[in-house]
Amino acid sequence: MDTWLVTGGGGFLGANAGLFLRGRAESLGLVRRESGTGSTFVTTIEADLSDVSRAVEVVEAARPSVILHCAAVSRHEDCESDPARAELINVNATRELARAAHEIGAQFIYVSTDAVFDGATGIYNEDALPNPFSVYGQTKLEGEHVALLEANALVVRTNFFGWSPSGRSSILEFFYNSLTRGEVVKGYTDFVVTSMYAQHLMEAIWTLAERDAHGVFHVASKDPLSKYDFAIAAADVFDLDSSLVFPTSEDVEPREWAKSRDISLDTSKFESFTQTPSPTQRQGLTAARLDASTVRVWLQDGKMTDTALASAASRKPLESDWF
Ligand SMILES: NC(=O)c1ccc[n+]([C@@H]2O[C@H](COP(=O)([O-])OP(=O)(O)OC[C@H]3O[C@@H](n4cnc5c(N)ncnc54)[C@H](OP(=O)(O)O)[C@@H]3O)[C@@H](O)[C@H]2O)c1
Repeated sequence: MDTWLVTGGGGFLGANAGLFLRGRAESLGLVRRESGTGSTFVTTIEADLSDVSRAVEVVEAARPSVILHCAAVSRHEDCESDPARAELINVNATRELARAAHEIGAQFIYVSTDAVFDGATGIYNEDALPNPFSVYGQTKLEGEHVALLEANALVVRTNFFGWSPSGRSSILEFFYNSLTRGEVVKGYTDFVVTSMYAQHLMEAIWTLAERDAHGVFHVASKDPLSKYDFAIAAADVFDLDSSLVFPTSEDVEPREWAKSRDISLDTSKFESFTQTPSPTQRQGLTAARLDASTVRVWLQDGKMTDTALASAASRKPLESDWF
């Protein structure tokens, strides 16, 4: 069995990765600090990437075959208010981890973002020119560049939704929580993405890693949806009241990173490389609903129930419910 080391192991995607990797690989989660509420990883190690030398030591000792680098200063607000920290974690730590991966011959997978594009046109393919609209997008793009300095790097540009340990990290959780409580919510009609269900994203990353993919890949759902359309689809799939979602425009927001945009990704390269169609967002929502009693419960209760474990282990890459 290969060993996967996942940074940001306590975060939204990192925790999903830990669960996905159960039964598929030895998994080692790097976290800034132990949460005390359990981890999805078989082994968890503390390392603060502000001092990346500790993480590099862990890499050198564990000698994983794959490093999945999920850790980041991931909120636009945090990057705008502390650009030096964003640079330190999103760029410098990435550079050092990519180097360490190269030194031990591990595959380095850097999780990047659709926010490297300005959103003027949408349906961006891997040859499109990035033009970030925020400190977050800029530092993530620089992170791509330093990762790609290493020959074995894979950059996955994406956007995802799903279940998270906090229960509050994703757009699905925002709409699910609000609509379940019967609250009226805004759905932006002019912010368009190709968000992908997090467990589907892990299946896609696993497949790319198995096929030793290098370079930049756009991994996302095939259908662009506005946040409003996503909310309506989520309400439908989860049997919630879609009349609580009212359409509004991002341009009423004063924040630069929240302006009207279409940052949807073209996934043709992924599809032809893996010979797999990308899922639709509705297929992702349907999978998320099926996972609500397993993946969601596990991530949020910090315990691996027998059902969740069986569900994680039986989910076969690229044979799931997405096509
Ligand atoms: N969410 C999305 O839709 C989306 C879209 C495109 C790309 N991405 C990218 O996907 C990756 C994962 O995102 P996510 O949504 O899972 O973010 P997240 O939930 O915020 O997770 C990021 C993780 O990074 C860790 N981290 C931050 N600073 C650290 C430090 N100094 N030392 C050690 N760990 C540190 C955080 O630990 P703490 O919890 O201790 O802070 C957290 O566990 C990121 O690279 C992000 O840029 C996300």
